[in-house]
Amino acid sequence: MNSIDSLLHEDRRFPPTPEFAASAVAGPELAEAAAADRLQFWADQSRELLHWHRPFTQTLDWTQAPFAKWFADGQLNVAYNCLDRHVLAGNGDRVAIHWEGEPGDTRTITYAELTAEVKKAANLLASLGIRRGDRVAIYLPMIPEAVISMLAIARIGAVHSVVFGGFSADSLRSRIDDAEAKLVITADGGWRKGKVFPLKKTVDQAVTETSVEHVLVVRRGENEVDWTEGRDLWWHEEIATMDAEHEAEAFDAENPLFILYTSGTTGKPKGILHTSGGYLTQTAYTHKNVFDLHPETDVYWCTADIGWVTGHSYVVYGPLANGATQVLYEGTPEFPEPGRWWQLVEKYKVSIFYTAPTAIRSFMKQGRQIPQASDLSSIRVLGSVGEPINPEAWIWYRDIIGGGTAPIVDTWWQTETGAIMISPLPGLTATKPGSAQVALPGISIDVLDDDGAAVEKGQGGLLVVTEPWPSMLRGIWGDPERFIETYWEKFDKPGARRRMYFAGDGARKDEDGDIWLLGRVDDVMNVSGHRLSTAEIESALVSHPFVAEAAVVGAADETTGQAVVAFVIVKASQADVATADEASSILRAHVAEQIGAIARPRQVYVVNELPKTRSGKIMRRLLRDVAEGREIGDTTTLADTTVMQIITDKLK
Ligand code: PRX
Repeated sequence: MNSIDSLLHEDRRFPPTPEFAASAVAGPELAEAAAADRLQFWADQSRELLHWHRPFTQTLDWTQAPFAKWFADGQLNVAYNCLDRHVLAGNGDRVAIHWEGEPGDTRTITYAELTAEVKKAANLLASLGIRRGDRVAIYLPMIPEAVISMLAIARIGAVHSVVFGGFSADSLRSRIDDAEAKLVITADGGWRKGKVFPLKKTVDQAVTETSVEHVLVVRRGENEVDWTEGRDLWWHEEIATMDAEHEAEAFDAENPLFILYTSGTTGKPKGILHTSGGYLTQTAYTHKNVFDLHPETDVYWCTADIGWVTGHSYVVYGPLANGATQVLYEGTPEFPEPGRWWQLVEKYKVSIFYTAPTAIRSFMKQGRQIPQASDLSSIRVLGSVGEPINPEAWIWYRDIIGGGTAPIVDTWWQTETGAIMISPLPGLTATKPGSAQVALPGISIDVLDDDGAAVEKGQGGLLVVTEPWPSMLRGIWGDPERFIETYWEKFDKPGARRRMYFAGDGARKDEDGDIWLLGRVDDVMNVSGHRLSTAEIESALVSHPFVAEAAVVGAADETTGQAVVAFVIVKASQADVATADEASSILRAHVAEQIGAIARPRQVYVVNELPKTRSGKIMRRLLRDVAEGREIGDTTTLADTTVMQIITDKLK
């Protein structure tokens, strides 16, 4: 409640400067057009922003709600839209990617070069038997081949499933199995904090006895790798023999483009499915208007990894569809020195910078002298994504990184929404620190109470999207029932069946009707802007022989937003095997090994009991009180009201 209270008292406003507003890409006409005819607006945007090999005549088919079809009778090629057409328009010499490796090696890739590389890679995929609709897993560091692979897969109408390079072999395997991937594209290793981390080794563990026929390996870390003849192929050897010509075939607008796994409220990650025409329309539209992109002059940098949706929509598809020039960086922010990011901003004269609040907060801790050692005067727009940004970090970001003038766009969206949904428009909106503010033109959102009624201004409730949108998820891979249950049933009222998308977030409408995000209302945590499910980590914990029972909560954390805190009951038979401290560190490592380092709990507390209701449901709210060092809340619904006393006594 404290954070909500402090947000309520935030009344600073930052209107755009007259100069910014005068040359802004997005003006009031967008909202006017969207309000006049929403579907016509989207059709116009799509025709303006994309090249359709076969123009569409239908905009939205919502007859099978919640399974939407956008621009269904049109055909396009996503990669052609991101590449060939820019070259044909005379922009082949424009830099698409300024790539910087962590050790300081660089590659500058123009649109013409990127197009040629993707064509060769498309020929390579075809030579390996990959066809339209086949799934290909990508497990790569932030190197140009990651972008090239995604676009090559898209170019031939196949479907990529990018798995973040920090995920474990088990996590990779379960994603390969679920999608029945035929091919994995990986690297020998990637650079991280001065060391090569092995990727191929993890892939070797993940692919045995799966649907995978080939493993294509990019050479990057130059580390030793094991080799399975017949299955494993070196990217550079294969690419060298490929033709640089490849004609892009047109595919249906609803052809699947990618699956991206994200955590939900159960132990099993969901494969979020996105398709082509609608997704590309909204990523291009938002990238252009929210970031005020002037593609001839701007240098854009989104720091997200391609393993997350932000990397898909705002490193690959949005910027490349718009012909932007961007920076791609392999390493972590602080290596080899804490000012590395800011040195890159200076070096490439980055003008649009998009990152996550967790990164901003960790820079704040290091002190302003680090960014101030670099010339950041090129920056003119700043973006934030992944979690609510606290007003203090917002102001620091604007003052220290944005020179006190750059507008901040706080962009709310999700893996499921595919593209930005709520955000200020930088040349129009008077921004408010901590608020994502307004639905973009063409997007319809609301905040509802539990009964489905819109809350009054000044009230909080649950965030919903009330009309279908072009880049909406089309389903959960292989699980239509889960798709309906998770997102469309909460406000399923007679006569309004499955029309309301429930986002899983709490939000408040202020007196102006602006939206303030208040975090997840389900058992999903948000750690450093990444989604983790309590159930998934609990099941990793109980898979260890020590553990009888586990409960996981997301506790507030100064830097990462939330941190994973686990409470476990150790089996009586194991009680003498390790001390509580030893068990705790073994279990933290076990979770990292099972899921990936991002899921490693900040703390694992060994307890004798867990607080449960009479029906046996764990009361996470009380555990959160313990994890955040607060007074324990109302315990009257506990089956055994003494449990919390026992837990707090034990942890003292
Ligand atoms: O809780 C919201 C939070 O991140 C969730 C979506 O996570 P994910 O699918 O991993 O995508 C992250 C990048 C788009 C949302 O349900 N979230 C995202 N952006 C914001 C946010 N919370 C507050 N403010 C934001 N700008």
